[in-house]
Amino acid sequence: MNKKSLFFTAILLGLISCCGDNQTLVTVALVDYCVCNEGYYGKLGQQCQQCPQGTTSISPYDLPNTSIGYCSKCLKNYFMSKKSYIPSPNSLQSESPATCNPCPSGSGNSSGSYSPGDQTQCDTCQPNYFMTAAVSQTQAAQCSPCPHNSGNQGVNAAGDQSQCNQCQDNSYMTAPAQHGQSAQCSPCPPNSYSSAPNSVGFCTCFDPFAISLSSTQNSCVCQSGYAGNVATAKGQNGCYKCGNNQFISGNKCVSCADGSTVNKDLTGCTCNDTSDGTIAWSSNTNICQCKPNYYGSPDKASQGSSGSCKPCPQGSTSQVGSKTADQCQKPPSDNQSQYSYSLIISNSLLISFIFIIFY
Ligand SMILES: *[C@@H]1O[C@H](CO)[C@@H](O)[C@H](O)[C@H]1NC(C)=O
Ligand SMILES: *[C@@H]1O[C@H](CO)[C@@H](O)[C@H](O)[C@H]1NC(C)=O
Ligand SMILES: *[C@@H]1O[C@H](CO)[C@@H](O)[C@H](O)[C@H]1NC(C)=O
Ligand SMILES: *[C@@H]1O[C@H](CO)[C@@H](O)[C@H](O)[C@H]1NC(C)=O
Ligand SMILES: *[C@@H]1O[C@H](CO)[C@@H](O)[C@H](O)[C@H]1NC(C)=O
Repeated sequence: MNKKSLFFTAILLGLISCCGDNQTLVTVALVDYCVCNEGYYGKLGQQCQQCPQGTTSISPYDLPNTSIGYCSKCLKNYFMSKKSYIPSPNSLQSESPATCNPCPSGSGNSSGSYSPGDQTQCDTCQPNYFMTAAVSQTQAAQCSPCPHNSGNQGVNAAGDQSQCNQCQDNSYMTAPAQHGQSAQCSPCPPNSYSSAPNSVGFCTCFDPFAISLSSTQNSCVCQSGYAGNVATAKGQNGCYKCGNNQFISGNKCVSCADGSTVNKDLTGCTCNDTSDGTIAWSSNTNICQCKPNYYGSPDKASQGSSGSCKPCPQGSTSQVGSKTADQCQKPPSDNQSQYSYSLIISNSLLISFIFIIFY
């Protein structure tokens, strides 16, 4: 074989080994086949189809034949009422898969049947059921649903409610199963999942930065020092740490006003200059400014400094937040009231004048 033909063989093999959906590459005696997966049937080289309801085919590694008659086994929790049929070449009868029926009310069969029978093939209880009576000559195992969010992985002998010794998905155990009683389980709070359903404990919040759930913490909230809302699914982002010199307001991060420094607990800030004349920082305003009758720039103060706000000169006043001395003003004189008197007089004169003209 020369290099060229080796190359083409490789390409050909590559093409063949590219199996479709629901197929597995099986190599027998150096030849590759794409065989339908368990649960599917179909001719070599063609698409695979799913076996009918409740039935399944054998593993692709057993190189099954490829027609519907090879759907000869029941899935677990089904019993077989009729065998599959693969006709011999000259037979008139047509090919058929096995007929499989679901096991009745919570009963099951953990392996799935290969041979025909009746509901007595259902000799176990499915997960989250307990068994009140074992399978008999005529009846499937009798199974009842586990109460109050309790559950199990399925049972195969008769017993009582205490067979429900676990908690179902999304619930946590407050008391273990005992003396004919099932485990006591409560639903997980929103945004948490059950991390240890088989023992007494609590659910776990999806958010790694949420406060751990406990007997006193029954909901998922961000730890202190974290803003945001808790994650609503595993792996999602939720609570987050604020940036430099930011405080948490509601559940958002807000930068501290100029001239202020964030407090240790991140719930607010403190103005760098807290000396007389500066208004104390408040979350309502988030600003460092002078009181009325002072002026200055506490927003430019470094931590621990003082005297950023100077009082206005004697006899003058200023508004909140004044920055410069010229914002300190003398109070207005009485001239205004004199002026308003003269306005009233002149107005009444005008009205009398108009009155005289018209009459
Ligand atoms: C493979 O199986 C799935 C599930 O039964 C089905 O949805 C899909 O169409 C199948 N693909 C092909 C190529 O038959
Ligand atoms: C597939 O069919 C052929 C011929 O019909 C038969 O000889 C062979 O045993 C079959 N294989 C299986 C796994 O049944
Ligand atoms: C399932 O059904 C078969 C009969 O087809 C039976 O032999 C078997 O004991 C049943 N139970 C389990 C757990 O497989
Ligand atoms: C206020 O103090 C903080 C902490 O020392 C500092 O980072 C910030 O720059 C100061 N603000 C001003 C305006 O100097
Ligand atoms: C008040 O009015 C008088 C004259 O009516 C004036 O001389 C005086 O300057 C005024 N005072 C102020 C504070 O405006």
